[in-house]
Amino acid sequence: MTSLTISQVRGREILDSRGNPTVEVQITLSDGAMGRALVPSGASKGQHEALELRDGDPNRYLGKGTLKAVRNVNETLANLVKGKSFRNVQELDTLMLEADGTSQKSKLGANAILGVSLAYVNAVAISQKRPLYLVLNEMMGVPAAEMQLPIPLMNILNGGVHANNGLEIQEFMIVPHGFSAFSEALRAGCEIFHHLKEMLHEKHFSTAVGDEGGFAPALESNEQALELICEAVRIAGYQLKTQVAVALDVASSSFYLADAKRYSLRHRGEDSIDSNGLIDFYQGLCDKFPIVSIEDGLDEDDWAGWKVLTDKLGGQCQLVGDDLFVTQVARVRRGIQEKIANAVLIKVNQVGTLKETFETMALCRENKYRAVTSHRSGETEDVTIAHLAVGSGCGQIKTGSASRSERLAKYNELLRIEEWARENGKPLRFAKVF
Ligand code: PGA
Ligand code: ZN
Repeated sequence: MTSLTISQVRGREILDSRGNPTVEVQITLSDGAMGRALVPSGASKGQHEALELRDGDPNRYLGKGTLKAVRNVNETLANLVKGKSFRNVQELDTLMLEADGTSQKSKLGANAILGVSLAYVNAVAISQKRPLYLVLNEMMGVPAAEMQLPIPLMNILNGGVHANNGLEIQEFMIVPHGFSAFSEALRAGCEIFHHLKEMLHEKHFSTAVGDEGGFAPALESNEQALELICEAVRIAGYQLKTQVAVALDVASSSFYLADAKRYSLRHRGEDSIDSNGLIDFYQGLCDKFPIVSIEDGLDEDDWAGWKVLTDKLGGQCQLVGDDLFVTQVARVRRGIQEKIANAVLIKVNQVGTLKETFETMALCRENKYRAVTSHRSGETEDVTIAHLAVGSGCGQIKTGSASRSERLAKYNELLRIEEWARENGKPLRFAKVF
């Protein structure tokens, strides 16, 4: 793709949206074009994710420093790639994967490798004076006609480990899908967010926000959260279900009792239930509320439970595997073979390179599994995933609520992409998924 060589690689330790250190990488090409990328970090991490290398030195950032990963960027990886030219990011990633040589990038750290991978494509886009989504689309080999603007899955009420309000379900999202343009869908989502804030305030609930910018009020039950959201959609003047639906990320691995193989759902007044009980609970919620998507409804290793969940609800609901699949081909392939789930959450740092991310997304496309591009709860101002969502044409993006600039940064970039495409004679349609 480019005969340019990499002339400089520079890693540094910067801070994410939670004030924890993370890795930034800056790559300069031989024509002077410079691209930069910042690596995100999760809180409700899947056990099978690629390794995020942390220093473990209690005297710096409570052990969370990333100086080792930064050193791996500035020494090992810089020496490996400097002076070389690559036809695409896959070639660059292959070289780094060989240098690491471990299955979960435990030698160099997925945060170090991913930083280089993402910075490289940003540098190529700068060099080619084109928006990044076009560069990614070409590298992925997705037909240009399949590019589209994604439906935002906006996490407006937070529970789980992203908040300290006691709700077990981690994310209650609104899905503004029945609109003719991304910008209109985003506007609806923001208006609903503001109406929800007013409602919470009037009911004397806290309007403080959680890690992904959604509210984190001390509610009595998961049902109450859904009722409040539906009320906010109506007050904002939108049609529930046809215009604005609801999605959940249960992140159930965080309340799975592995030894007992049971789930602890305290808000239902029960100490714990088995996977069948939890599936019945979801069925009840789907009957009552316009839920179109449930993520991580069961634990990341509860494959048997997932099979029952998919058999029961897969026909009517998008079932997304996040911790279950961790963006990794081997796990997604198993899901496809066993007919488990019907959608995959795509988080670049769960797997650690763009090459592998592309492979997972291609596997989804070939097998008609949906893909949802996603941020992490620890984010930065980096907007690469907005371009990944458009360039891949995956149709959905999960990047938080309508507050906190690290979340809005992605939505704002999508607004810029929408405008750029329109003004350059290649308008992008707004995805139709639900
Ligand atoms: P995480 O959560 O980034 O904290 O892992 C996001 C999610 O579970 O989707
Ligand atoms: Zn999740």
